[in-house]
Amino acid sequence: MLKAVILIGGPQKGTRFRPLSLEIPKPLFPVAGLPTVQHHIEALAAVPGLREILLIGYFPANQMAQFTSEMASTYKLRIRYLQEYTALGTAGGIYHFRDQIRAGGADAFFLVNGDVCGDFPLQEMLTFHQTRPGKTPLVTLLATEATRQQSCMYGCIVENKETHEVLHYVEKPSTFVSNVINCGVYIFSSDIFTLLQELYNSRQDFYSDEVENSEAIHLELDVLKPLAGTGQAYVFCSDRWWSQIKTAGSAIYANRHYLQLYRRNKRVERLAATNFPVIYGDVFVHPSATVHPSAVLGPNVSIGKNVTIAAGVRIKESIILGNATIHEHSCILYSIIGWNSTVGCWSRVEGTPCDPNPNKPFAKMDNVPLFNTEGRLNPSITILGCNVTVPSEVIVLNSIVLPHKDLPHSYKNEIIL
Ligand code: GDD
Ligand code: GTP
Repeated sequence: MLKAVILIGGPQKGTRFRPLSLEIPKPLFPVAGLPTVQHHIEALAAVPGLREILLIGYFPANQMAQFTSEMASTYKLRIRYLQEYTALGTAGGIYHFRDQIRAGGADAFFLVNGDVCGDFPLQEMLTFHQTRPGKTPLVTLLATEATRQQSCMYGCIVENKETHEVLHYVEKPSTFVSNVINCGVYIFSSDIFTLLQELYNSRQDFYSDEVENSEAIHLELDVLKPLAGTGQAYVFCSDRWWSQIKTAGSAIYANRHYLQLYRRNKRVERLAATNFPVIYGDVFVHPSATVHPSAVLGPNVSIGKNVTIAAGVRIKESIILGNATIHEHSCILYSIIGWNSTVGCWSRVEGTPCDPNPNKPFAKMDNVPLFNTEGRLNPSITILGCNVTVPSEVIVLNSIVLPHKDLPHSYKNEIIL
């Protein structure tokens, strides 16, 4: 029997996703019209024989309750949220909730990091995992290629090219190890719990008076690294779309790709298709949104619940969150407009795309820090937090506006506190 676990982390992380993560847990941030983690749930629910999905994190349970019950009824699957009492690390939670994961006789489970997105080849990975010669491996890791330089930001894997066994694993190395990187998507055999138990027990002796440290287990350092070279870890390489969602800029990139997947995965009904408003490329419009027939949307735009888009508005490569209003003839490019925000008439809100370098094969997005070495804001998408008001006839360029601001004038390359 097969299950799945999604690691969604908790409130003190995700600083690079502010101010949007101030309103809502990052896994619930909508991309292509659905909460980010719903895309993972949807992909997992499509794997035949998968019986249950457990979301593990340290957000207060009440923040996840409604979402998980909606997901359970949408996908007709057992979907539950299990709350860690503190950050237990990327493997501590699985160990802590081992009985829930094994319940019902699960002999294998997927583990997916909540902060990655992509077109995950889950079924193919599972077949690969189950058809290794000899004993079923303890773990199969999903991997992809990165550029030499970017690979050092990820877990790096050296594999036996013929057997696909993991020979070496180094987490975020300081010098180049391999351009095959860990995607944060795994299949574990339930025998992994024996290893986790040994690890946990040895920790108890070591840290006997520091409760928090002794319970945290880091999958990458404590499990994957020692498993490399033992014949119990395998790697399944994919060349499909994959990216992290660490920064708000990466949400725009993920939005574009998930919209594209709707077309490919025969979910075209989710995409807007009308002549008025004019729709270019892939666009999601929530059924409750009001869009004036003279507006032009796309490519790669998501319009949330109860949004109002007035006459002559142009929106491209952006996410407009619930209850926002975009007044006449305004233009929104490479931006995220927060919940309940308003953009006046003839204004322009524009950001800079942070896409992977198209001229470098296998390039991933650079998750650049907010500020450069001179203390200036790195050009990125423009983000308006919730309840922001942009007046008429101004320009907001490459800026981040914190929630509840009434902007008095135009801004460029600034964080508006
Ligand atoms: N429940 C829970 N508890 N989740 C956690 C915890 C925790 O204590 N710590 C991290 N997570 C979740 C995060 O929310 C995220 O979804 C995922 O686990 C990965 O966490 P990070 O610790 O931020 O790791 P990373 O993203 O920098 O690197 C990992 O993912 C890369 C791919 O995106 C590593 O596995 C790398 O090797 C890998 O390349
Ligand atoms: P820093 O490295 O501290 O800048 O954060 P990050 O953006 O790299 O976040 P990280 O990937 O380490 O952890 C992200 C996880 O934390 C996500 O999967 C979310 O589950 C969670 N998270 C991130 N931001 C927030 C937030 O501000 N509010 C809440 N409620 N949850 C968040």
